[in-house]
Amino acid sequence: MTDTAHERRKLAALLVQEGALKTPTWRAAVEAVPRELFLNPGVFLPEGGRWRPVTALGSDPAKWIQTAYSPDTLTTQLDGHLTADQVNEPVAGLPTSSSTMPALVVSMIESLDVEDGHQVLEIGTGTGYSAALMCHRLGEDNVTTVEVDPEVAERADAALEAAGYSTWTVTGDGLLGHPRRAPYDRVIATCLVRRIPHAWVRQTKPGGIILATVGSWANGCGLAKVTVNEDGTAEGRIIGKASFMQARSQATVPVDGDLSARAAYADSERQVKVSPLLMDEWMPSFLTQLTAPGAQLVRARTSEGKQLLYLFDPERESFAEFIEDGEGWRVRQGGPVALWDDVEESLTAWQGAGSPDITSVRLHVTDRCHTYWIGGQQITTRTSSHWIGEGSALRWQHRLTDRP
Ligand SMILES: C[S@@+](CC[C@H](N)C(=O)[O-])C[C@H]1O[C@@H](n2cnc3c(N)ncnc32)[C@H](O)[C@@H]1O
Repeated sequence: MTDTAHERRKLAALLVQEGALKTPTWRAAVEAVPRELFLNPGVFLPEGGRWRPVTALGSDPAKWIQTAYSPDTLTTQLDGHLTADQVNEPVAGLPTSSSTMPALVVSMIESLDVEDGHQVLEIGTGTGYSAALMCHRLGEDNVTTVEVDPEVAERADAALEAAGYSTWTVTGDGLLGHPRRAPYDRVIATCLVRRIPHAWVRQTKPGGIILATVGSWANGCGLAKVTVNEDGTAEGRIIGKASFMQARSQATVPVDGDLSARAAYADSERQVKVSPLLMDEWMPSFLTQLTAPGAQLVRARTSEGKQLLYLFDPERESFAEFIEDGEGWRVRQGGPVALWDDVEESLTAWQGAGSPDITSVRLHVTDRCHTYWIGGQQITTRTSSHWIGEGSALRWQHRLTDRP
């Protein structure tokens, strides 16, 4: 077996240079854990809109090692089942498991603020590489990692064993945490969640930290870091941008089919006050999701090549259709919720506050309600609606129940 100590040191040096790797103990972990052990049987590399399979066995050893130490995310599974050893040609597909780009893995685990002896729960084992880094830092008995896909979990478990870590690899839905090993000092999720499940809060010690990417759109998610309070609530803020594959049970079912039929009956039509193209930017996209959590941004083209842009909220049977005319954009809205009225109000208030970036968003999590806000005081009296603007304060509430 090739000794990859040189590649590991090189990767660590690159991560230090990029500012992702900061502390000597995590640097030692990156230098110690061979990433190639976690990529069996192979990876899919992007190529012209498809995925080219590359396996360890079928590759020149030097080239394989070069691939394994790429600073990019390496996709290891497509469409919930396909691995690189099962195909010979580039294929289409949706990534469903991967070894996340090392810079993101490392900057996240740096943000966890772990200390010796901490018990960590990881959601989304994937290849097991990030779990291995944590095992190196904290010891194998202090790391529990949950993977929803049994085959992925089995491969990760074998890789962790091969790397010398007999840690707790659990197969199951990580949204439920893993109560049997609770309470934890730290919870980290490497899959995207719509909101922080209260199971994680319950399974974390007071003072403990939960780190997870929240959202459901690939280009507008926030990395949330919250601290658990004595009273079983949690609070913190969005510390940056990050994007992961969605937790499987929350995966969005894309709106497709006859879009014009979905948008046939509008209740109103008007000129927009804010360009809908703003939703292509990260922070406005994040705010749109806070305002209309079930909505999807859908782009299409007519047979004549005209651009079509929609917001659809299938659960609330509502839509906004954006039409570009000579003057700018018009919006047609239909269904019980005027989606764009809400989103536009939210975006206008954000612009009015000076367009602060995503790290200005704070959040408070209880078992019944998630409140996000920017500036001002958090007020918990209002009971409905996703978006609430109050004076200079921007606030979004997602209530799980109407009970007080
Ligand atoms: C981006 S990969 C994880 C990367 C991994 N930590 C690594 O460094 O190799 C995300 C993983 O989360 C898993 N996943 C998705 N939903 C999950 C859930 N509800 N519970 C546990 N794992 C889940 C996926 O199957 C996938 O393997």
